[in-house]
Amino acid sequence: MTRLILGIETSCDDTSAAVVDENFRVLAVRTVSQTSVHALFGGVIPEIAARNHIAWIFPTIDKVIGESGVAPKDISAIAVTNYPGLLGSLLVGVGAAKGLAIGWHKPLIAVNHLEAHIHSPFLGRSERPKPPYLSLVVSGGHTTLMAVGEGSAVTVLAETMDDAAGEAYDKIAKVAKLPYPGGPAIDELAQTGDPTRYDLPYLMRSGKYKDTLAFSFSGIKSAVKRILDTEGDTVALADLMAGFQSRIVELIERRLTAAWEGDTYTALVVAGGVAANSAVRKMAQEFTGKRGVPLYLPELKYCQDNGAMVAAAAFPKLDRGEFSPLDFDVTATSRPQTK
Ligand code: KG4
Ligand code: ZN
Repeated sequence: MTRLILGIETSCDDTSAAVVDENFRVLAVRTVSQTSVHALFGGVIPEIAARNHIAWIFPTIDKVIGESGVAPKDISAIAVTNYPGLLGSLLVGVGAAKGLAIGWHKPLIAVNHLEAHIHSPFLGRSERPKPPYLSLVVSGGHTTLMAVGEGSAVTVLAETMDDAAGEAYDKIAKVAKLPYPGGPAIDELAQTGDPTRYDLPYLMRSGKYKDTLAFSFSGIKSAVKRILDTEGDTVALADLMAGFQSRIVELIERRLTAAWEGDTYTALVVAGGVAANSAVRKMAQEFTGKRGVPLYLPELKYCQDNGAMVAAAAFPKLDRGEFSPLDFDVTATSRPQTK
Protein backbone atom coordinates (compact mmCIF):
# COMPACT_ATOMS: atom_id res chain seq x y z
CA MET A 1 0.00 0.00 0.00
CA THR A 2 1.20 3.52 -0.79
CA ARG A 3 2.47 5.17 2.35
CA LEU A 4 0.91 8.45 3.45
CA ILE A 5 2.07 11.19 5.79
CA LEU A 6 0.03 13.92 7.43
CA GLY A 7 2.21 17.06 7.46
CA ILE A 8 1.60 19.94 9.89
CA GLU A 9 3.19 23.39 9.63
CA THR A 10 2.77 26.27 12.09
CA SER A 11 6.29 27.72 12.38
CA CYS A 12 5.35 31.31 11.58
CA ASP A 13 1.96 32.74 10.63
CA ASP A 14 0.54 30.10 8.26
CA THR A 15 -1.57 27.30 9.73
CA SER A 16 -1.23 24.43 7.30
CA ALA A 17 -1.84 20.70 6.99
CA ALA A 18 -1.57 18.25 4.10
CA VAL A 19 -1.76 14.58 3.24
CA VAL A 20 1.04 13.52 0.88
CA ASP A 21 1.87 10.08 -0.52
CA GLU A 22 5.30 8.51 -0.94
CA ASN A 23 5.48 9.66 -4.56
CA PHE A 24 5.04 13.23 -3.29
CA ARG A 25 1.53 13.42 -4.69
CA VAL A 26 -0.45 15.94 -2.64
CA LEU A 27 -3.82 14.36 -1.81
CA ALA A 28 -5.02 17.45 0.04
CA VAL A 29 -3.49 20.64 1.39
CA ARG A 30 -5.04 23.55 3.25
CA THR A 31 -3.28 26.68 4.45
CA VAL A 32 -4.93 29.37 6.54
CA SER A 33 -2.94 32.55 6.02
CA GLN A 34 -2.88 35.21 8.72
CA THR A 35 -1.39 37.83 6.39
CA SER A 36 -4.37 40.18 6.57
CA VAL A 37 -4.20 40.19 10.39
CA HIS A 38 -0.46 40.88 10.62
CA ALA A 39 -0.67 43.43 7.79
CA LEU A 40 -2.35 45.74 10.30
CA PHE A 41 0.96 45.82 12.20
CA GLY A 42 3.31 45.67 9.20
CA GLY A 43 4.86 42.41 10.42
CA VAL A 44 4.15 39.15 12.22
CA ILE A 45 3.19 39.54 15.90
CA PRO A 46 4.25 36.22 17.49
CA GLU A 47 1.60 36.19 20.23
CA ILE A 48 -1.23 36.79 17.75
CA ALA A 49 0.18 34.19 15.36
CA ALA A 50 0.22 31.54 18.10
CA ARG A 51 -3.34 32.32 19.20
CA ASN A 52 -4.63 32.09 15.64
CA HIS A 53 -2.86 28.75 15.16
CA ILE A 54 -4.78 27.43 18.16
CA ALA A 55 -8.07 28.46 16.54
CA TRP A 56 -7.25 27.02 13.11
CA ILE A 57 -5.09 23.96 13.60
CA PHE A 58 -7.76 21.31 14.17
CA PRO A 59 -10.30 22.64 11.62
CA THR A 60 -7.44 22.69 9.07
CA ILE A 61 -6.38 19.11 9.85
CA ASP A 62 -10.02 17.92 9.79
CA LYS A 63 -10.48 19.54 6.41
CA VAL A 64 -7.44 17.90 4.76
CA ILE A 65 -8.25 14.50 6.19
CA GLY A 66 -11.77 14.83 4.77
CA GLU A 67 -10.59 16.12 1.39
CA SER A 68 -7.88 13.50 1.02
CA GLY A 69 -10.43 10.70 1.31
CA VAL A 70 -7.98 8.89 3.60
CA ALA A 71 -8.91 7.31 6.91
CA PRO A 72 -6.56 8.19 9.80
CA LYS A 73 -5.79 4.48 10.20
CA ASP A 74 -4.16 4.49 6.73
CA ILE A 75 -1.67 7.24 7.61
CA SER A 76 1.88 5.96 8.18
CA ALA A 77 3.15 8.87 10.28
CA ILE A 78 2.46 12.41 11.43
CA ALA A 79 5.13 14.97 10.52
CA VAL A 80 5.41 18.40 12.10
CA THR A 81 7.82 21.34 11.92
CA ASN A 82 9.62 21.72 15.26
CA TYR A 83 12.34 24.25 14.32
CA PRO A 84 13.33 26.89 13.43
CA GLY A 85 10.46 29.29 13.96
CA LEU A 86 8.46 31.28 16.47
CA LEU A 87 8.31 29.23 19.67
CA GLY A 88 4.64 29.90 20.46
CA SER A 89 3.64 29.06 16.89
CA LEU A 90 5.73 25.89 16.74
CA LEU A 91 4.26 24.68 20.03
CA VAL A 92 0.72 24.70 18.62
CA GLY A 93 1.55 22.47 15.65
CA VAL A 94 3.74 20.18 17.72
CA GLY A 95 1.08 19.90 20.45
CA ALA A 96 -1.56 19.01 17.86
CA ALA A 97 0.72 16.46 16.21
CA LYS A 98 1.55 14.80 19.52
CA GLY A 99 -2.12 14.64 20.51
CA LEU A 100 -3.06 13.00 17.22
CA ALA A 101 -0.12 10.61 17.42
CA ILE A 102 -1.35 9.42 20.81
CA GLY A 103 -5.00 9.27 19.77
CA TRP A 104 -4.40 7.56 16.43
CA HIS A 105 -1.41 5.43 17.55
CA LYS A 106 0.89 6.87 14.89
CA PRO A 107 4.62 7.55 14.89
CA LEU A 108 5.79 11.15 14.94
CA ILE A 109 8.44 12.73 12.72
CA ALA A 110 9.84 16.14 13.71
CA VAL A 111 10.92 18.13 10.67
CA ASN A 112 13.33 21.03 10.21
CA HIS A 113 11.51 23.87 8.44
CA LEU A 114 14.40 24.47 6.04
CA GLU A 115 14.49 20.82 5.01
CA ALA A 116 10.76 21.12 4.42
CA HIS A 117 11.26 24.10 2.08
CA ILE A 118 13.96 22.14 0.19
CA HIS A 119 11.36 19.43 -0.53
CA SER A 120 8.71 21.90 -1.77
CA PRO A 121 9.79 21.78 -5.45
CA PHE A 122 9.40 17.98 -5.50
CA LEU A 123 5.68 18.10 -4.66
CA GLY A 124 3.51 16.85 -7.49
CA ARG A 125 6.44 15.87 -9.72
CA SER A 126 8.04 12.51 -10.21
CA GLU A 127 11.70 13.45 -10.76
CA ARG A 128 13.98 14.48 -7.89
CA PRO A 129 17.60 15.65 -7.89
CA LYS A 130 20.38 13.20 -7.32
CA PRO A 131 22.52 14.15 -4.32
CA PRO A 132 24.66 16.10 -3.85
CA TYR A 133 22.73 19.16 -4.89
CA LEU A 134 22.88 22.82 -3.93
CA SER A 135 19.92 24.38 -2.22
CA LEU A 136 18.98 27.94 -1.36
CA VAL A 137 16.08 28.76 0.93
CA VAL A 138 15.10 32.42 0.67
CA SER A 139 12.11 33.45 2.74
CA GLY A 140 10.86 35.95 5.29
CA GLY A 141 12.85 34.20 8.01
CA HIS A 142 15.82 32.67 6.20
CA THR A 143 18.47 33.11 3.58
CA THR A 144 20.36 29.85 3.83
CA LEU A 145 22.62 28.10 1.35
CA MET A 146 22.87 24.36 1.89
CA ALA A 147 24.48 21.30 0.34
CA VAL A 148 22.18 18.29 0.36
CA GLY A 149 23.75 14.84 0.39
CA GLU A 150 22.51 11.24 0.53
CA GLY A 151 19.40 10.65 2.63
CA SER A 152 18.61 14.40 2.49
CA ALA A 153 21.52 15.14 4.87
CA VAL A 154 21.85 18.92 4.98
CA THR A 155 25.08 20.88 5.46
CA VAL A 156 24.69 24.61 5.96
CA LEU A 157 27.17 26.52 3.79
CA ALA A 158 26.06 30.06 4.59
CA GLU A 159 23.35 32.13 6.16
CA THR A 160 22.39 35.76 6.35
CA MET A 161 24.28 37.85 8.86
CA ASP A 162 21.33 40.16 9.45
CA ASP A 163 17.92 40.22 7.75
CA ALA A 164 16.53 37.44 5.62
CA ALA A 165 15.93 38.46 1.99
CA GLY A 166 12.14 38.50 2.44
CA GLU A 167 12.52 40.51 5.63
CA ALA A 168 14.50 43.15 3.71
CA TYR A 169 11.67 43.30 1.14
CA ASP A 170 9.07 43.64 3.91
CA LYS A 171 10.99 46.36 5.76
CA ILE A 172 11.68 48.43 2.64
CA ALA A 173 8.02 48.09 1.60
CA LYS A 174 6.98 49.48 4.96
CA VAL A 175 9.22 52.55 4.57
CA ALA A 176 7.99 53.00 0.98
CA LYS A 177 4.35 52.69 2.18
CA LEU A 178 3.74 49.66 -0.01
CA PRO A 179 1.39 46.86 1.10
CA TYR A 180 2.46 44.03 3.42
CA PRO A 181 4.00 41.57 2.72
CA GLY A 182 6.42 43.67 0.72
CA GLY A 183 7.87 40.99 -1.57
CA PRO A 184 5.02 40.68 -4.07
CA ALA A 185 4.39 44.46 -4.13
CA ILE A 186 8.05 45.34 -4.75
CA ASP A 187 8.44 42.54 -7.29
CA GLU A 188 5.49 43.86 -9.32
CA LEU A 189 6.68 47.45 -9.19
CA ALA A 190 10.30 46.53 -9.96
CA GLN A 191 9.26 44.91 -13.22
CA THR A 192 8.17 48.32 -14.55
CA GLY A 193 11.23 50.23 -13.33
CA ASP A 194 14.73 51.11 -14.52
CA PRO A 195 17.23 49.47 -12.13
CA THR A 196 20.07 51.78 -13.21
CA ARG A 197 18.40 55.10 -12.37
CA TYR A 198 19.67 55.19 -8.78
CA ASP A 199 23.29 54.57 -7.94
CA LEU A 200 22.89 51.79 -5.38
CA PRO A 201 25.76 49.91 -3.72
CA TYR A 202 26.63 46.36 -4.62
CA LEU A 203 26.21 44.02 -1.67
CA MET A 204 29.35 42.62 0.00
CA ARG A 205 31.49 43.11 -3.10
CA SER A 206 34.24 44.59 -0.95
CA GLY A 207 35.24 44.28 2.69
CA LYS A 208 36.03 41.26 4.80
CA TYR A 209 33.04 39.18 3.74
CA LYS A 210 33.70 39.68 0.02
CA ASP A 211 35.05 36.18 -0.56
CA THR A 212 32.70 34.32 1.79
CA LEU A 213 29.32 32.81 1.01
CA ALA A 214 27.56 34.93 3.64
CA PHE A 215 24.59 37.18 2.92
CA SER A 216 23.80 40.61 4.30
CA PHE A 217 21.03 42.96 3.26
CA SER A 218 21.56 45.81 5.71
CA GLY A 219 23.69 47.87 3.28
CA ILE A 220 21.11 47.94 0.52
CA LYS A 221 18.33 48.56 3.02
CA SER A 222 20.08 51.64 4.41
CA ALA A 223 20.89 52.99 0.93
CA VAL A 224 17.29 52.61 -0.26
CA LYS A 225 15.89 54.03 2.96
CA ARG A 226 18.16 57.07 2.65
CA ILE A 227 16.86 57.80 -0.86
CA LEU A 228 13.26 57.34 0.28
CA ASP A 229 13.83 59.72 3.20
CA THR A 230 15.53 62.35 1.05
CA GLU A 231 13.27 62.26 -2.00
CA GLY A 232 9.95 61.71 -0.23
CA ASP A 233 6.98 61.74 -2.59
CA THR A 234 9.11 62.75 -5.57
CA VAL A 235 10.99 59.45 -5.58
CA ALA A 236 10.81 57.35 -8.76
CA LEU A 237 9.58 54.35 -6.76
CA ALA A 238 9.47 51.76 -9.53
CA ASP A 239 13.06 52.60 -10.53
CA LEU A 240 14.25 52.49 -6.92
CA MET A 241 12.55 49.14 -6.30
CA ALA A 242 13.99 47.77 -9.55
CA GLY A 243 17.46 48.79 -8.35
CA PHE A 244 16.88 47.30 -4.89
CA GLN A 245 15.72 44.00 -6.38
CA SER A 246 18.57 43.82 -8.90
CA ARG A 247 21.20 44.26 -6.17
CA ILE A 248 19.64 41.51 -4.03
CA VAL A 249 19.46 39.10 -6.94
CA GLU A 250 23.02 40.00 -7.98
CA LEU A 251 24.34 38.99 -4.52
CA ILE A 252 22.35 35.75 -4.57
CA GLU A 253 23.73 34.90 -8.02
CA ARG A 254 27.31 35.72 -6.94
CA ARG A 255 27.00 33.45 -3.90
CA LEU A 256 25.48 30.62 -5.94
CA THR A 257 28.33 30.95 -8.44
CA ALA A 258 30.98 30.80 -5.70
CA ALA A 259 29.30 27.85 -3.95
CA TRP A 260 28.99 25.99 -7.24
CA GLU A 261 32.65 26.34 -8.22
CA GLY A 262 34.89 23.47 -7.31
CA ASP A 263 32.01 21.22 -6.34
CA THR A 264 30.04 18.59 -8.16
CA TYR A 265 26.42 19.46 -7.59
CA THR A 266 23.91 17.80 -9.88
CA ALA A 267 21.10 20.33 -9.52
CA LEU A 268 19.96 23.56 -7.92
CA VAL A 269 16.95 23.88 -5.61
CA VAL A 270 15.62 27.35 -4.79
CA ALA A 271 12.71 27.48 -2.34
CA GLY A 272 10.94 29.69 0.22
CA GLY A 273 8.66 32.70 -0.13
CA VAL A 274 11.22 34.73 -2.11
CA ALA A 275 11.49 31.86 -4.64
CA ALA A 276 8.22 33.33 -5.94
CA ASN A 277 10.15 36.44 -7.02
CA SER A 278 10.22 36.90 -10.79
CA ALA A 279 13.86 38.08 -10.90
CA VAL A 280 15.05 35.27 -8.59
CA ARG A 281 13.28 32.68 -10.75
CA LYS A 282 14.74 34.14 -13.97
CA MET A 283 18.26 34.27 -12.52
CA ALA A 284 17.99 30.67 -11.28
CA GLN A 285 16.78 29.53 -14.70
CA GLU A 286 19.71 31.23 -16.43
CA PHE A 287 22.16 29.94 -13.79
CA THR A 288 21.19 26.30 -14.30
CA GLY A 289 20.70 26.74 -18.06
CA LYS A 290 24.33 27.89 -18.40
CA ARG A 291 25.54 24.88 -16.41
CA GLY A 292 23.26 22.35 -18.07
CA VAL A 293 21.78 21.12 -14.78
CA PRO A 294 18.15 20.86 -13.70
CA LEU A 295 16.53 23.58 -11.64
CA TYR A 296 13.98 22.70 -8.97
CA LEU A 297 11.68 25.60 -8.18
CA PRO A 298 8.46 25.15 -6.22
CA GLU A 299 5.16 25.88 -7.86
CA LEU A 300 4.08 29.33 -6.70
CA LYS A 301 1.51 27.83 -4.32
CA TYR A 302 4.25 25.82 -2.54
CA CYS A 303 6.70 28.74 -2.10
CA GLN A 304 4.73 29.89 0.93
CA ASP A 305 4.87 27.80 4.14
CA ASN A 306 2.70 24.68 3.83
CA GLY A 307 2.12 21.28 5.40
CA ALA A 308 2.78 19.38 2.15
CA MET A 309 6.50 20.19 2.14
CA VAL A 310 6.71 19.07 5.78
CA ALA A 311 5.18 15.71 4.87
CA ALA A 312 7.52 15.33 1.87
CA ALA A 313 10.61 16.06 3.99
CA ALA A 314 9.52 13.36 6.45
CA PHE A 315 9.59 10.52 3.89
CA PRO A 316 13.40 10.01 3.98
CA LYS A 317 13.07 9.70 7.78
CA LEU A 318 10.14 7.30 7.47
CA ASP A 319 12.29 5.20 5.08
CA ARG A 320 14.98 5.01 7.75
CA GLY A 321 12.52 4.42 10.60
CA GLU A 322 13.76 7.64 12.18
CA PHE A 323 10.88 8.58 14.47
CA SER A 324 10.77 11.25 17.15
CA PRO A 325 10.03 10.50 20.80
CA LEU A 326 6.81 11.96 22.22
CA ASP A 327 8.76 14.41 24.38
CA PHE A 328 10.65 16.15 21.54
CA ASP A 329 10.87 19.90 21.90
CA VAL A 330 10.63 23.00 19.71
CA THR A 331 13.59 25.31 19.02
CA ALA A 332 13.68 28.83 17.68
CA THR A 333 17.23 28.77 16.27
CA SER A 334 17.65 29.30 12.60
CA ARG A 335 20.58 26.92 12.21
CA PRO A 336 19.48 23.48 11.05
CA GLN A 337 21.23 20.46 12.51
CA THR A 338 23.84 19.12 10.17
CA LYS A 339 24.06 15.40 9.91
O1 KG4 B 1 8.41 31.17 3.13
P1 KG4 B 1 7.50 32.24 3.61
O2 KG4 B 1 6.01 32.10 3.33
O3 KG4 B 1 7.60 32.40 5.16
C1 KG4 B 1 8.80 32.24 5.86
O4 KG4 B 1 9.14 31.07 6.21
O5 KG4 B 1 9.46 33.27 6.07
O6 KG4 B 1 8.04 33.62 3.02
C2 KG4 B 1 7.41 34.86 3.16
C3 KG4 B 1 8.31 35.94 2.59
C4 KG4 B 1 7.85 37.37 2.88
O7 KG4 B 1 8.93 38.10 3.40
C5 KG4 B 1 7.44 37.91 1.52
O8 KG4 B 1 7.63 39.31 1.37
C6 KG4 B 1 8.36 37.14 0.59
O9 KG4 B 1 8.40 35.84 1.16
N1 KG4 B 1 7.86 37.08 -0.79
C7 KG4 B 1 8.51 37.66 -1.83
C8 KG4 B 1 7.68 37.45 -2.96
N2 KG4 B 1 6.57 36.76 -2.57
C9 KG4 B 1 6.70 36.54 -1.22
N3 KG4 B 1 9.68 38.31 -1.87
C10 KG4 B 1 10.07 38.79 -3.07
N4 KG4 B 1 9.34 38.65 -4.20
C11 KG4 B 1 8.15 38.00 -4.20
N5 KG4 B 1 7.45 37.86 -5.31
ZN1 ZN C 1 9.21 29.19 5.55
